[in-house]
Parts: sequence; C-alpha cells; structure tokens
Amino acid sequence: MKKVKVNLKDSHYFIYLGYPLKDIGRLLTEKRYGRRILILSDTNVFSIYGKIMKGSLIREEKEVIDVVVRPGEGAKTLNNACDMLKKCAENKMGRDDTILTLGGGVISDLGGFVASIYMRGINFVAVPTTLLAQVDASIGGKTGVNLTFGKNLVGSFYQPSFVYMDYNTLLTLSEREKKQGIAEIIKYGIIKSKKIFDIFVDKPVDEMKKHLPFLIEESIKIKKDVVEKDEKEKKGLREILNFGHTLGHAIEISHLSKFSHGESISLGMAAETYISWKLGFCRKDVYFTVKGVLQKYGLPFNFSSITIDKIFNYLRYDKKVRQGNLRFVLVQNIGKVKSGVVVKIEDVSKILKEMIKNEKYR
Ligand SMILES: NC(=O)c1ccc[n+]([C@@H]2O[C@H](COP(=O)([O-])OP(=O)(O)OC[C@H]3O[C@@H](n4cnc5c(N)ncnc54)[C@H](O)[C@@H]3O)[C@@H](O)[C@H]2O)c1
Ligand SMILES: [Zn+2]
Repeated sequence: MKKVKVNLKDSHYFIYLGYPLKDIGRLLTEKRYGRRILILSDTNVFSIYGKIMKGSLIREEKEVIDVVVRPGEGAKTLNNACDMLKKCAENKMGRDDTILTLGGGVISDLGGFVASIYMRGINFVAVPTTLLAQVDASIGGKTGVNLTFGKNLVGSFYQPSFVYMDYNTLLTLSEREKKQGIAEIIKYGIIKSKKIFDIFVDKPVDEMKKHLPFLIEESIKIKKDVVEKDEKEKKGLREILNFGHTLGHAIEISHLSKFSHGESISLGMAAETYISWKLGFCRKDVYFTVKGVLQKYGLPFNFSSITIDKIFNYLRYDKKVRQGNLRFVLVQNIGKVKSGVVVKIEDVSKILKEMIKNEKYR
C-alpha cells in the first residue's frame, strides 16, 4: 500500500495505491467527506464490486445513493449527467457530500464532470477499476461527456478529493481491456522511462501481473509530474502525453472504433516511431525495439488492416491540422522524446506508405 501526493497550484490530493476496496468507507469518514455518498458505476462493475463498496460505506453509517449506467462510451452523455444532477438534488446532497465513481474512464469522466458542476463543485472520489483508468483517465483532472458532434466536447478541469485503487479489481478485467492499459504504460516507458520499457523487454509476458503494481505507480508518477507543471493544459507541457495519439486518434475515429483506443495508439506508436526514424530523430533499432514490444504483448503494430486514405481524409478535416501540417511527439531514444515537431501532412503520408510497403515484403 502506498500513497502518492499530487501537488497543484492551490491544493493537493493523494492517490492511494493498492488499498482494499472494503476500507474506503473508513477513509471517507476520517476525511469527513460527508454523510451522503452517490456511487456512480456501470452494470458490469457494479455487479462485481457494488456489494463490497456499499458494505464499506454502510458500515460507516453513510447514506448511499447509487446510479448504475450501461457500460461503454455511450454512457458519457449530457442526459446521464442531468439524471445524476437530479438524483443529487432529490437526495438533498450538499457541498460536503461526495460523488464516488466506481469503474473505468467512462465512469470517472462522467462522475467527475457532475461533481464539478453540482452546487459549483462537490467532493469527488475516483475509484478506477480498469488499468487504463488507473494509469491515465483518473489522473489529471480532465472530466467530461460527449456530444454527437464529437468526444469530450463538454467538460471541466476538476481535481478529485482523492483517488483510490485496489489492484485486485484488475483481476476481473478482460484481456482486451487490460491491453488498453498496457499500451498506455508502454507509452509512458517510451516518453519518459527506460526502466518501465525495459520491464516489457526483459520480463516474460506471463510475469506481467507481478510487475503491474510497479508499472502502475511509475506511470502515475510520470503523468502526475506533467499535470503538476501544466494543470489546465495551458503551457503545452501535456503534449508529451500525446505520443502515439496524433495518428492513433485518427485511426480510432476514421476506422469507426474497429480498433479500441489502446489498439489505435499501439498502431500510432509504431507509426510515429517509424516517422521518428525516417526523419532522423532516432536510430533504426529504436523502431524495431518498439515494434518488438508491441508484438510481444499482443498489441497491433502493422497496418495490414488499415486503410491509409481513411486516416488522411479524416486528418485533412481535423482542426488540429494547421495549414497542412501535423504536430508530433517524436522519439529520440527510449525514454526521451521531442514534442511539438511539425511535419507536412504529405510527408507523413509518404513515409507511412513506405512503411506499409516494407511491412508487406517482410
Ligand atoms: N479524463 C482523462 O484524462 C482521460 C484519459 C484517458 C481516457 N479517458 C476516457 O476514458 C474512457 C475509457 O476508459 P476505460 O477504457 O476505462 O473505459 P470504460 O469505463 O468503458 O471501461 C471499459 C470496460 O471495462 C469494464 N470494466 C471496468 N472495470 C472492470 C473490472 N474491474 N472488471 C471487469 N470489467 C470492468 C466496463 O464495464 C467497460 O465495459 C474514454 O471515455 C476516454 O475518453 C479520459
Ligand atoms: Zn490514450
């Protein structure tokens, strides 16, 4: 069990790592986070962990209100946010009470958003239960919901009162969901930590479970350091976290979610490392090492089922593409990257076509 402190400009909070779910009630009492606790969860997670969570709160004489939504991205809507707001009001929740999210990134994004606007902000406690949410979505204070026009278009920066993780919740996660988190952890290794990356290189895949607590803690520390320096994403320092995401995001959207977010950024990381090599930012072996690790963990790296024109049709209409240029985080070595590298979209297209041609003959 460990605690990591996140220091912000006007406040701080703790991330509790490896604590049992059943003990959270006591912590809420100790910290005086109110008598009424609204739990937001989805049906998958609530059916497994709802009872332990409620039990822990009821033992502390909390009044528990639960809101359980359907699993998946479709739950991040203004409608669900409105329903939650009404539940808060109906149950006379006050500013001292707490919204507690029990689930993955969808749940913490939605619940954090509602916590930020109900009565102009009430306590928000995140209990992330996916690997992706533990290393990424629950850290950093971004909350929000989707509109039909696009993802995360409505939201706020709102820091939690604390984040509480029980690693055992990861045991019930599907392999595909686990891999999404692994892809983000590999990203942290490439951008900032050779130590993380080397674990993926050196250790056998079936030993990964044993190394997860260390990998989660190190990943969180990397994200937290970036967030502490650029809380509201105003200084461009968070851009480093976008490695693999410039193309990854385009693949995810242009292929209509055929690839999960983690799979898309895996493909994005392979392609962006290839670009790094071709533009002289890194040596050839860095590209092959990255590709090797993605392959070892069953993440996609080759573009055989990608339609390259779909990606570029999407990118040409994307607001992020300014005057035919794309911004990348490029790899210099494992653990070292350069942010804000501008590359002409035509050059990116040329390099990727060459990459695909080479893959075919390999
Ligand atoms: N706010 C941020 O900074 C940030 C960063 C990254 C991603 N996100 C957001 O996070 C979302 C993706 O997060 P996610 O992948 O965690 O999605 P998710 O919340 O949809 O969870 C994925 C699936 O796993 C299931 N699940 C969750 N925990 C489980 C467990 N312990 N056992 C069994 N099943 C479990 C869920 O029911 C769901 O079906 C996206 O909406 C994305 O926009 C936000
Ligand atoms: Zn991501």
